[in-house]
Amino acid sequence: MKTVVIYTSQTGFTKRYAEWIAKRMNADILDLKEAKKKPDSFFDGYDAIVYGGWCMAGKVAKCGWFLGKVSAWQGKRLAIFAVGCSPDGTPEVAAAMKQLLTDEQRKYIKAFYCQGGINYDRMSFPYRMAMKMFAGSLKNKKNATAKDKEMGEFIAQNHDLADIRFIEPVVAYLEEKKNPAS
Ligand SMILES: Cc1cc2nc3c(=O)[nH]c(=O)nc-3n(C[C@H](O)[C@H](O)[C@H](O)COP(=O)(O)O)c2cc1C
Repeated sequence: MKTVVIYTSQTGFTKRYAEWIAKRMNADILDLKEAKKKPDSFFDGYDAIVYGGWCMAGKVAKCGWFLGKVSAWQGKRLAIFAVGCSPDGTPEVAAAMKQLLTDEQRKYIKAFYCQGGINYDRMSFPYRMAMKMFAGSLKNKKNATAKDKEMGEFIAQNHDLADIRFIEPVVAYLEEKKNPAS
């Protein structure tokens, strides 16, 4: 199965996941900027297309390009993965994943969440400010719960919780088509 992994990453976590998936699948890998320059016919040769983007305010960064193309790619294996700092299994992640795809898209695209982290050193200034303000607002808000404070502390600092085990469901999904008899 010929696979291409397309990603957009600001601080490196999504890129790392894209590289892990591409390596495991022996797939091609493209930064979204490169992918956008390709003619539509370029993607005809792929059986599977995977898009990865980082989570931004409950959305997946720049997923519009991929989601704008998918209806024409319904005969292919399609997956999208979101990389965020929120711990997997939290209601925030569930809500973000729920609103990522329409009911129609869910019939032919599978969505996955991969926990990344925070790297303030590689973040652009406006995003660094936005995250610091969000962290501060959680910690200092009136009637902040212990959970709010804990989350505020968690996102105020650099951390790296990316783990290759998060690619397993993505790979399994892609492999399913690769070996339809198994
Ligand atoms: C402005 C901004 C908003 C963010 N919003 C979310 C969010 O809603 N949910 C989440 O889990 N992570 C959020 N994050 C954290 C990033 O998704 C996280 O740092 C991710 O690992 C970055 O991936 P990258 O290294 O590929 O850029 C946000 C980060 C920034 C800068």
